[in-house]
Amino acid sequence: MPESITIIDNRTNESVEIPIVQGGVAASQWSALLGNIWFLDPSFNTTAATTSAISEVDGENGILRYRGYPIEQLAEHSTYLEVAYLLLRGELPSANEYETWVHDITHHTFIHERFRKRFMESFLHDAHPMGMFVSTIAALSTFYPEAKDIEDPDNRMHQIVRLIAKVPTVAAAGARFNSGLPFVYPDNNLDFTTNFLSMMFKIAEPTYECHPILSRALDLLLITHAEHGQNCSTSAARVVGSALTNPYSVIAAAACALYGPRHGGANQAVVEMLHHIGGYENIDPFIKEVKSGKTRLMGFGHRVYKNYDPRAKIIKKTAHEVFEVTGSNPLLDIALKLEEVALDDNYFAERRLYPNVDFYSGLIYQSMGFPPDMFTVLFAIARTAGWLAHWVELLEQGSRIARPRQVYTGSATRDYVPIANR
Ligand code: CMC
Repeated sequence: MPESITIIDNRTNESVEIPIVQGGVAASQWSALLGNIWFLDPSFNTTAATTSAISEVDGENGILRYRGYPIEQLAEHSTYLEVAYLLLRGELPSANEYETWVHDITHHTFIHERFRKRFMESFLHDAHPMGMFVSTIAALSTFYPEAKDIEDPDNRMHQIVRLIAKVPTVAAAGARFNSGLPFVYPDNNLDFTTNFLSMMFKIAEPTYECHPILSRALDLLLITHAEHGQNCSTSAARVVGSALTNPYSVIAAAACALYGPRHGGANQAVVEMLHHIGGYENIDPFIKEVKSGKTRLMGFGHRVYKNYDPRAKIIKKTAHEVFEVTGSNPLLDIALKLEEVALDDNYFAERRLYPNVDFYSGLIYQSMGFPPDMFTVLFAIARTAGWLAHWVELLEQGSRIARPRQVYTGSATRDYVPIANR
């Protein structure tokens, strides 16, 4: 059987046969035949916007691989910085490459003092840290105007190092400001994740110390959130990047998309939902509300996964390890019961709705002491590596500017009516 599809234009009886390559057909091949007929695909349900070699999401079977490596293996053996290197460079680093990479990231963690004091501290005292994060990342482009030279691969890599190094500092600065605590400078003697925890939680102790299970758990959460194909925020990054915009603005645009409750904001929404449910006795009435369409079961469902999200499995296991150290989170029991009830219910089975990456992550963040407003910011720190990998891939592909068509449904031509006659 030929691996192709044939399209016939019934108006003219002309046909075109297009090969199916890796599950996709090149739309450009039929535009010659079909001319000005557009494929209407709101929300990109059936459109592959690009080819990409960064991550593979097999939603039917609940599989995720970064550059071919199963997420389970990376979560078990790797570190966030090593995964960032893998995503950006395509291969795992040698020992020397890793050492240089960690050194470079570690020595770019500081942000300009005046920028932090004058810019970041000018927000309202209770500004949402994610709002502060997106604005601050965008504003960094004014500090590094040379970043706009995106054609130079060395310059690109320099900005990438800066971004990966500085996002935790910006994130923690926003959190400290929001809770009225003094800024903590980066401590370059600490590893990437412990340094972030230090900037978040250090009070007056000379050196911040953290239980290794907790810093490892956070590193693992960063790994599992680092990349996920053409999700909403990565697509935003690619669209903005296709205009040849500087990388700080690209990452800020991606982070704006992540902010929403359907995307990276879901982890905060899950914890709020569990608080709202409050006890076992309220689970059934809550599920009824979900099924009537009044609300959604946050942390459930995914455009691509029609099976258990492999990240949710890893995170659920990690949650138990974290609670051994922090003491149990009472919301965990509600979450476990809610999952059990939902997985047993036809509404969720028919729609193939399973826990996603956000269902258990918020509970870990909460137990580690992160305020709920920081949950999405944590996601943004992790995903910065994925966004940047896509930005580089896009530029190396020599992509044209992203410019979808529309099917116009508005008024036919009409004449302007002066305001007095309307
Ligand atoms: N609770 C209840 N019903 C749901 C849910 C949910 N969480 N998700 C989907 N459905 C139903 C939806 O009502 C629809 O039913 P019907 O066919 O009867 O109208 C059907 O399932 C298909 O839903 P959809 O909205 O068309 O699916 P989508 O692919 O457009 O949306 C989603 C995917 C993730 C936005 C959605 O599942 C959702 O809103 N989930 C809750 C928010 C969430 O957890 N987001 C995190 C996603 S994973 C991390 C990330 O990407 O940031």
